[in-house]
Amino acid sequence: MQIFIDSADIEEIRDAAAMGVVDGVTTNPSLVAKTGRPFKDVLVDICEVVDGPISAEVIATDYDGMMTEARSLAKMHKNIVVKIPLIAEGLKAVRTLTDEGIRTNVTLCFSPTQGLLAAKAGATYVSPFIGRIDDISGNGMEIVEQLVTIYQNYGLPTQVLAASIRHPVHVVQASLIGAHVATLPHKVIHQLVKHPLTDSGLERFLADAKKIPSS
Ligand code: G3P
Repeated sequence: MQIFIDSADIEEIRDAAAMGVVDGVTTNPSLVAKTGRPFKDVLVDICEVVDGPISAEVIATDYDGMMTEARSLAKMHKNIVVKIPLIAEGLKAVRTLTDEGIRTNVTLCFSPTQGLLAAKAGATYVSPFIGRIDDISGNGMEIVEQLVTIYQNYGLPTQVLAASIRHPVHVVQASLIGAHVATLPHKVIHQLVKHPLTDSGLERFLADAKKIPSS
């Protein structure tokens, strides 16, 4: 499973990338707004740090507007993947962008039927939002499982990108199901590393190391 970082914060992205575990980056308008910086400046910085797919979302909701934004974003860097919302106009844009060779990440996917249509339209990635479904007492991971099966059944090349991941158990479940990608907040990447037995074991080794006589 590929691991993307779900962040627009360049320090978070640098930190995770330096660990050698980041295959790509996903952003959304809410994450970019948190940085307080212009969208394209943020993207330029991210493209310098990570050499992998970098999702950048359009904010238009009509076909023409999405196409204008998408083409302009795609021109910025070879690694930009255009994030398109899962609405009817979005599917039309995905079809044209795919035909033009521009990669897409279809976002805000909450059902297997939405995900099936996005794949039919040619999406490179489809992002089911796990945590937001769990938030309303649904089972977000079920959609990841359904999409992986549906795409396998018909040999659809679209990749399932598990998004809105909130904790390490989501990561384990997504990888057992066979999601192609999981995009993780910086905090979750660090939670995956941490283990209390590693910390106490290291503490003991360091304490014992001090007892070793010097030569
Ligand atoms: O980038 C999209 C997604 O990961 C958002 O997550 O936590 O805002 O539901 P969240």
